[in-house]
Amino acid sequence: MGYRVAVVGATGAVGREMLSTLAERNFPADEVIALASSKSVGTEVSYGDTRTLKVQDLDKFDFTGTDIALFSAGGSTAAKYAPRAGKQGCVVIDNSSNFRMDPDVPLIVPEVNEQALSGYAKRNIIANPNCSTAQLVMALKPLHDAFKIKRVVVSTYQSTSGAGKAGMDELFNQTRAVYVNDPVENHTFTKQIAFNVIPHIDSFMDDGYTKEEWKMTVETRKMLDPDIELVATCVRVPVFVGHAEAVFIETEKPIDEDAARKVMAEFEGLVVLDHRADEGYVTPQECAGEDAVYVSRVRKDPTVKNGLAFWCVSDNLRKGAALNAIQIAEALIKTHLKKAA
Ligand code: A2P
Repeated sequence: MGYRVAVVGATGAVGREMLSTLAERNFPADEVIALASSKSVGTEVSYGDTRTLKVQDLDKFDFTGTDIALFSAGGSTAAKYAPRAGKQGCVVIDNSSNFRMDPDVPLIVPEVNEQALSGYAKRNIIANPNCSTAQLVMALKPLHDAFKIKRVVVSTYQSTSGAGKAGMDELFNQTRAVYVNDPVENHTFTKQIAFNVIPHIDSFMDDGYTKEEWKMTVETRKMLDPDIELVATCVRVPVFVGHAEAVFIETEKPIDEDAARKVMAEFEGLVVLDHRADEGYVTPQECAGEDAVYVSRVRKDPTVKNGLAFWCVSDNLRKGAALNAIQIAEALIKTHLKKAA
């Protein structure tokens, strides 16, 4: 017997990726339900190469009898509907930031902290981390286990799909407008994103950091180690899919490039592709559509006692969102939601 799975936000960039990832990975679903706002009711969305689903209204949906709901419909929608779904006995895996720091909600990257999943039953909600944090903790985990990370300095280069379908459309429309000499309009981003970079993702906080930067700090601590110091600069770049990060770490134990490459290469889900040649590193364009987190440009940081620098890229819609959510669901059905065959 399989599972009844709902995808909330099925018309969005991550929701569509969730549907294709469920089909691709042969998730044991007897039924998949596509949910979005009332304006999308009746819209058809693809589920794998051959099937389509008709979108239903989230507001009218009763989650009783649904085993798992994958939410990717933003923080306010999650705040309104996820607790209701949880109370109706459905386990919610939410992609928004709304529940991530709730002590009663596990925040999970399965390769990193699957053991924390056991706390899910308090609210029947599990949180998926921020896309930039997900790929970062994948790279940090083996380094932390081997060398004990004290401090991380990270700059991100985040694609427009991190802001949903509207973000990708804005990059496309602005690029076209520049070429045909039309006025450039911005609605989703605070400034022009075509042919530009914007050091501002999510809102500004009192200390001058943005909420996106703050999320990287607190989410990394929650998943990896509360003692790690982390400081981030998050930047939106004119790329459709794939986030990149330039990462500097300081460790307690001595670290060298070869040992770092070895522990990272052995870590599930992480691929080290690092040759000092023109094509010996991975870019966002190359990682789009891929499941792995890629690490390149590994080198010693000579400015601190035990320091290492590297470059990390991943498909933000996959490991940063849909794939990670489905891996959480897979871990959940393996450990907690077993059904008789
Ligand atoms: P809809 O298309 O009906 O507005 P993205 O992150 O790519 O912008 O996608 C957001 C997803 O979340 C879309 O599927 C969108 O559905 C859905 N969504 C946003 N607000 C709501 C809401 N209040 N109720 C249900 N679905 C929502």
